Amino acid sequence: MKKIVVFASGRGSNCRNIYQKLQIEKKLVQIVNVITDRPNAAILDWAKEIGIPTNVILPRSFDSEDSFSNTLLKVIGEVDLIVLAGYLKKIPSIIVEKFPLKIVNIHPALLPAFGGKGYYGMRVHQAVYEYGAKVSGITIHFVDNEYDHGPILFQKAVDISHCASPEEIAQEVLKVEHKYYSKIIENVLYGKFHLKGRRVIWEKFSL
Ligand code: GRF
Repeated sequence: MKKIVVFASGRGSNCRNIYQKLQIEKKLVQIVNVITDRPNAAILDWAKEIGIPTNVILPRSFDSEDSFSNTLLKVIGEVDLIVLAGYLKKIPSIIVEKFPLKIVNIHPALLPAFGGKGYYGMRVHQAVYEYGAKVSGITIHFVDNEYDHGPILFQKAVDISHCASPEEIAQEVLKVEHKYYSKIIENVLYGKFHLKGRRVIWEKFSL
């Protein structure tokens, strides 16, 4: 069984979905820790209720990025994968370097559109809506030192032509996030791939 750590800042529906599918149903992973930067993140109540260790680590309570990173490193420990699921802070470069191709993120749009600094949560869907896009989607990617930028593992388009608000877009996109994030995590952990430049070439992949 592979060990994963989940970073989340909010309600954590992706984390709960991953737990249900990969830990409870398939018994392929164990979520060893949920790390958040928000003391009142809803995900904390859920994690505590089912007995997953949690850590609230507030970046602003550290006097330097190094001390923040060192604390994170200690808390993360030895894991097979770090999963970002709605985590709003940037992952410090020390962590990115310590875990090459071992940190994944899900972004609720088709990168490189509607991504990067400032594009998170409902802001993404608001921007997609205002732009008038008829298609949005999800991007699951490795994490590097830039927001929403690392090599892409998987993308799926979502028809949003019928959506009348950013909230409706968010709803449609979230369904697809829940359908695929756990599957792609399973592939990262148990499949096979190599990198060619920033292209992820899958050698063993199944949905
Ligand atoms: C998701 O839309 C995800 O794509 C984005 O943040 C949101 C987190 O939702 N990175 P939840 O907390 O997993 O419900």
